[in-house]
Amino acid sequence: MTAFRPVTLAHRFAAKLIDPGDCCVDATVGNGNDTVFLARRVGKAGRVLGFDVQKRAIASTQRKLRERGLDERVLLQLEGHENVGRRLKALGWSGIRIAMFNLGYLPGSDKRVVTRGDTTLSALGSCSEALLPRGAISIVGYRGHRGGGEEYDAVWHWASQLDSSRYMVMRYERGSATAPVFIWIEKKAQRHKGTKAQRHKANGVKEYRKLIDWKKRIYLVGKY
Ligand SMILES: C[S@@+](CC[C@H](N)C(=O)[O-])C[C@H]1O[C@@H](n2cnc3c(N)ncnc32)[C@H](O)[C@@H]1O
Repeated sequence: MTAFRPVTLAHRFAAKLIDPGDCCVDATVGNGNDTVFLARRVGKAGRVLGFDVQKRAIASTQRKLRERGLDERVLLQLEGHENVGRRLKALGWSGIRIAMFNLGYLPGSDKRVVTRGDTTLSALGSCSEALLPRGAISIVGYRGHRGGGEEYDAVWHWASQLDSSRYMVMRYERGSATAPVFIWIEKKAQRHKGTKAQRHKANGVKEYRKLIDWKKRIYLVGKY
């Protein structure tokens, strides 16, 4: 049996949901691999909002994005993801398709700078509220470092308590008790008795989605 890496699964699952023009969040930018993945998927008309508390992570990701011609569609924040709710409100996005959390510490850097249960839960709460129907939160959790097990327990406890009429929650584990874990939380599409257009609108189907371009300060409404 093939054992998938949790990060690979996160990308595979997310790729199925992202449409060009979508808005996504990278809650832990780190080396920028997830940011580049999301930026490519959302296309020119889409946007990615990324967070990290380390200057080094933001600077190297900015460079990576510029080299690949993707920087125009990404807004990087040198601050904790616990601010995501406030930032999304300021941007005026109507909803996000994917929020990606790759927890723990940045490989090859200071292991004391790690994600923590309380701030991670705060960010997860904001992202779950901002999700579009058929949007999802992807979490890769690590249990092998100091504090990792406690953070993972808190995250899984939160995820497993979500209202099952609104969210589908899935967990993938392989190997030992300290191996990385993948958690996928997908917001269910809303049932809608109205017309096709009303149903599409309620479920955030692309043609009816509204998005704000923070560089040009233009609202794009309707087909794009
Ligand atoms: C495992 S790394 C992320 C890997 C990254 N997604 C990639 O593709 O390379 C975790 C990152 O979370 C960052 N981090 C720690 N606390 C944070 C917080 N409160 N908000 C945002 N990022 C945080 C760390 O600085 C680190 O860069």
